[in-house]
Amino acid sequence: MHFSFIATCALFAGVIAAPALSSKRHVVHERRERLPAGWRKEAKSPSHAVLPMRFGLSQSNLDRADEFLMDVSHPSSPNFGKHWSPQQIAETFAPTEEAINAILDWLTESGIDKERIKLSPGMNWVNANLTVTEAESLLQTKYWHFIHVGSGTSHVACDDYSIPDDIRKHIDLITPTVHFDARISKKKQKRSLTSREAKLNARQTLKTKYKLGTSIGNPGDGSLPKAGGAVAHLNNDLANCDVSIVPDCLRALYKIPIDYPVAASNSYGIVEYTPQAYLPSDLDLFFANFSPALVGSRPEFESIDGGLLQTIVEDFNYNGESDLDLEYSMALVYPQSVTLYQVGDIFEGASFNNFLDALDGSYCTYEGGDDVTEDGVYPDPYGSGYGFYSGSEACGGFAAANVISTSYGYNEADLTAFYEMRQCYEYMKLGLQGVTFLYSSGDYGVAGNSGECIDPTTGAYNNGTRYSRSIDNEPLKADVSVGTSGMFVPSFPGGCPYVTSVGATQVKPNATVTQPEEAAESVIYSGGGFSNVFGLPSYQAEAVATYFAKHSPPYGADQYNNSQTSRGFPDVAANGVNYVIAIDGAFSYVYGTSASSPTFGSVMTLINAARLNAGKSPVGFINPVLYTHPHMLNDITEGGNQGCGTAGFTAVKGWDPVTGLGTPDFTKMVEVWLALP
Ligand SMILES: *[C@@H]1O[C@H](CO)[C@@H](O)[C@H](O)[C@H]1NC(C)=O
Ligand SMILES: *[C@@H]1O[C@H](CO)[C@@H](O)[C@H](O)[C@H]1NC(C)=O
Ligand SMILES: *[C@@H]1O[C@H](CO)[C@@H](O)[C@H](O)[C@H]1NC(C)=O
Ligand SMILES: *[C@@H]1O[C@H](CO)[C@@H](O)[C@H](O)[C@H]1NC(C)=O
Repeated sequence: MHFSFIATCALFAGVIAAPALSSKRHVVHERRERLPAGWRKEAKSPSHAVLPMRFGLSQSNLDRADEFLMDVSHPSSPNFGKHWSPQQIAETFAPTEEAINAILDWLTESGIDKERIKLSPGMNWVNANLTVTEAESLLQTKYWHFIHVGSGTSHVACDDYSIPDDIRKHIDLITPTVHFDARISKKKQKRSLTSREAKLNARQTLKTKYKLGTSIGNPGDGSLPKAGGAVAHLNNDLANCDVSIVPDCLRALYKIPIDYPVAASNSYGIVEYTPQAYLPSDLDLFFANFSPALVGSRPEFESIDGGLLQTIVEDFNYNGESDLDLEYSMALVYPQSVTLYQVGDIFEGASFNNFLDALDGSYCTYEGGDDVTEDGVYPDPYGSGYGFYSGSEACGGFAAANVISTSYGYNEADLTAFYEMRQCYEYMKLGLQGVTFLYSSGDYGVAGNSGECIDPTTGAYNNGTRYSRSIDNEPLKADVSVGTSGMFVPSFPGGCPYVTSVGATQVKPNATVTQPEEAAESVIYSGGGFSNVFGLPSYQAEAVATYFAKHSPPYGADQYNNSQTSRGFPDVAANGVNYVIAIDGAFSYVYGTSASSPTFGSVMTLINAARLNAGKSPVGFINPVLYTHPHMLNDITEGGNQGCGTAGFTAVKGWDPVTGLGTPDFTKMVEVWLALP
C-alpha cells in the first residue's frame, strides 16, 4: 500500500483521537553477543543527551515474495514474462498502515508528543529525537559511551533492547542501539597533495595495504580467479580444449552461436569492484587472436561511486578478474554489446549494496540496511584527491542490464542474516522487473573463500589458506594451509534463492568437446552446498528432495546444514578451468567460477537476443524455468567439490550441490525460452 503525505497526516490525527492499547509486555528485540575488537565501554551516557532515534519499519508482503516472483517467472504461469514496474514494486512492499499506526501508538502512549515524531519520505522510518532517559525507558535498556582504543572514535550504544511483543513484527531494527556501525576515523592528510604525490600515495596504498576500505575487489579476496602458468596452445584448435579453453571451445561445448543477430534493446552487464580494472591493451591482444572484429572495442563504461580503471598497479591480482570477465563475455556475445559497471574508488571501494543502491533508488532510500563496516561510504571519508571519490553515493539512476554477471562473493558466515536477507530481497525485486542476476559460486568446494572452514566448537574460522606477497611486485601466493577441517562455509549471495549461482566444470583430461565434462578439480573446486540462512525455495524443492533421497551425503549436522529445508547451490555450471586470457601484455591460464559466471551470462544474453528479436520480454529470473526443464542443460555426473578435510559433495545424475543442473546447451535452451510467452 502506498500512502500520500496528506493521508499520513490524517492518520496521525486518528492516532491521537483514539489511541489503541498496546500490550506492555516487552521482549528483547536485538542483543549484541560481544563487543567488537578494539572498543572499550567507557561510561554511562548522560541522561539529558539527545539520541536521534530511528525506527525501521518492516516491509510488507515479503512473505509473498516467492509467490510474486513465480507468477512472472514460472513457465506454467499465465503471467510469465509480465515483469513489474518500479512503481508496482514500491507500492507492494511499502510498510503497511497497520505497521505505521502500531509504532505511532506505542510512541505516543509512551509519552512522546506527536509533534516530535516524523515519518521518512519513503514511509519506512519513524524518526524522533529522544533524551537518553526517554530512550532507556522506551526500550528498557541503558545507554553507554564507548571508545575505540586505537583511534579515539566514540560511539553511543546499548547491549540489548526490548520492545512490546505485539509490535515486534512491524519493526526491523531501531538505531542507535546495539549496532557498532561507527566508522573508525583515520588520520586525514594535513594539506592537499600535488597530483604526482597523490598518485604515489595511491600506489603506496595499493602496494602495501593488504585490505583497503571495504571493497570486495581487494586483491587477495578469495573469490578472485586463480592464476596459472604460460599458455601451451594459442589457437582455436578444438583438439586442445582439454588443456586450453578459448572462446571456440566454449562455443563447441555449449553450442553457442557466433555472430548472433543483435537485438536493439539487449544488454549484458559485467560488474567489477575497484581496484580491479581491465587493461584496454589486454582486450586488444586477446581480440586480435580470438575475436578480430572486436579489436579496438571497449565495454560501455558506467562509473558508480567513483569507479575508475586504475593503472597505478598492473598485475594479475588487479587485472585478472576484469580482463577475464570482459575478454570472454565480449567475445561470446559479439555483436551484442557489454556494459561494464565499475564500482567504487581506489581507497574506500564498494560492495554489492553500493551497486544495488545505484540501480534502485528505493533500495538506497530504504535506509538502515547499508552497513558501514561492509559497504562503501561516500564521499570517501579517507581523504580527497586522486583515487578518492568526493561525490555522494549513487542512489538510483543507473539502468539495470537484462543480464548481470558478478564474479565476486562473500562467505555467508561473514555477514549478518539481516544484511543478507535484505540484499536477497532486492534481487527478488529486480527479478520481478525482469533482470537476471548471476553470481559465481566460489572456488574452494564446500569451504569458504581461501579455503576457510568453521570450527564447530568455537564458531571461528580455522585453518584456511592464507595469501601473502613476499615482495612488492609478485603475485599473491598461497601459504601452506595449516589444516583443513571444520564445518562447510556456503557462499553469499550463492545461497540467496533469488540469484542464479554458477559453479565450475572442466573438460576431462584427453577428452574432446563432444564428451561430457566433469566437476572442476584442477586448481579450483566448484563452490556448492546448502545455506544456513535461506530456506529451500519452491522451484528447487523437488530437485533437492530427489538429491537427498538418492544420494544422501555422508556428513552430519556438525558438518553442514543437512536439514533438507535450506537452499542448495549452485543452480548451474559452466567451464572454469584452463581459460586462456591476455593479462598484462601476455597470455596466461586462469581458473575459477569467476570464468563460469560470465560464460553462462553470455548464453543467457544470446537467449535474450532471440526473445527480444521475437518481440518477447527478456528472460528475467531464470531458476524456475531451469528447474522445470533440466533436460536443456548437460547434466554433470562426475567429480566432486572437496574441502574442509572432506571429499565434499559428488556430482550425480540430476541436480547436485557441485554443478547444479549442469552446463548450458544453447540449442535446447533457446527452443524452450522461445516457446514461452
Ligand atoms: C532531530 O534534531 C536534529 C538536529 O537538531 C534535526 O535536524 C532533526 O530534524 C530532528 N529530528 C526530528 C525527527 O525531529
Ligand atoms: C587446525 O590445525 C591445527 C594445527 O595443524 C590442528 O591441530 C587442528 O586440529 C586443526 N583444526 C581443525 C578444526 O581442523
Ligand atoms: C592423456 O594422453 C597422454 C598422451 O597420450 C597420456 O600420457 C596421459 O596419460 C593421458 N591422460 C589421461 C588422464 O588419460
Ligand atoms: C539450516 O537451514 C534452515 C532453513 O534455512 C535454517 O532454519 C536453520 O537454522 C539452518 N541450520 C543451521 C544450523 O544453520
